[in-house]
Amino acid sequence: MDTIELKHVRYAYPLTQKPVLDDISVTFEKGTFYGVIGENGSGKTTLCNLLRGLIPNFYKGELSGDVLFDGVHLQDLDVDQLSVSIGYVFQNPFTQISGVKKTVFEEVALGLENLGVSPQEIIERVIRVLELLEITHLAQKNPTELSGGQRQRVAFASIIVMDPDILVIDEPTSQLDPAGSMKVFSIIDQLKKQNKTIILVEHKMNMIAAYCDIVLVMRDGKIVKNGTAQAVLSDAALAEAGVQPPEAALLAYDLKAAGIPLEDIPITAGECCRLIRKRWER
Ligand SMILES: Nc1ncnc2c1ncn2[C@@H]1O[C@H](COP(=O)(O)OP(=O)(O)OP(=O)(O)O)[C@@H](O)[C@H]1O
Ligand SMILES: [Mg+2]
Repeated sequence: MDTIELKHVRYAYPLTQKPVLDDISVTFEKGTFYGVIGENGSGKTTLCNLLRGLIPNFYKGELSGDVLFDGVHLQDLDVDQLSVSIGYVFQNPFTQISGVKKTVFEEVALGLENLGVSPQEIIERVIRVLELLEITHLAQKNPTELSGGQRQRVAFASIIVMDPDILVIDEPTSQLDPAGSMKVFSIIDQLKKQNKTIILVEHKMNMIAAYCDIVLVMRDGKIVKNGTAQAVLSDAALAEAGVQPPEAALLAYDLKAAGIPLEDIPITAGECCRLIRKRWER
């Protein structure tokens, strides 16, 4: 699948009046890494639920506007078919674990099994993904006995093993330590380099700044900003949307206030160092 296009999409959950997605128009293009940021309750997870077709089929509620997958309307698509093209890593890893498999290995294999992939290929693919996520040592453990961070890695593994074209990933590092988070980001970056489309919800601004091509800022059900990571994250108005800019940008604002402005507002530590050195050598 190449493109997902939303046009004037509005959505309200059942029994609620206020739309949680409020006139959303956005296009997701193949091979691009999108970061979705915004304060709690701004509608990020709801947007993910829509992209995966869980809205309106599972959640019901009122949906209007156009949701197009390669030009085909959501209502004309077989939603089960979407799960082959679109992998969705849930915000809550506890929801993702099936509860029907006794080992992590079987849990990660489950989706491939359902697709009818040959046992030999399943074994090879699962082994590779467990190695990639450095969870081979968990292979024989019961998925219900894992820690939150371990579950999060298993949930992520069970999606990337399916090799979908598009990955919708909702806060994959919320339970991970810094090293685990870096690892997950570098894997997502590798997937992007394989020309996959990545739609990532994340609060870790430094990571968003380092990896994303395009950043969408959500507020109150609306997309209030949509642009390159550099343009969106260097904007001092970001704080007004309830989002803290990356540390490099904050430092640059402080330097500016102290009368030592940099040439530009950096969003990563590397770029910040470059601009400071440039000023120093002037
Ligand atoms: N199943 C549901 N039924 C009714 N309202 C819901 C449901 N799920 C979410 N909401 C409401 O929709 C709004 C957006 O929620 P959503 O989970 O999409 O926010 P979010 O941006 O993902 O927040 P967070 O950063 O906390 O994960 C909130 O006001 C929330 O209370
Ligand atoms: Mg959420």
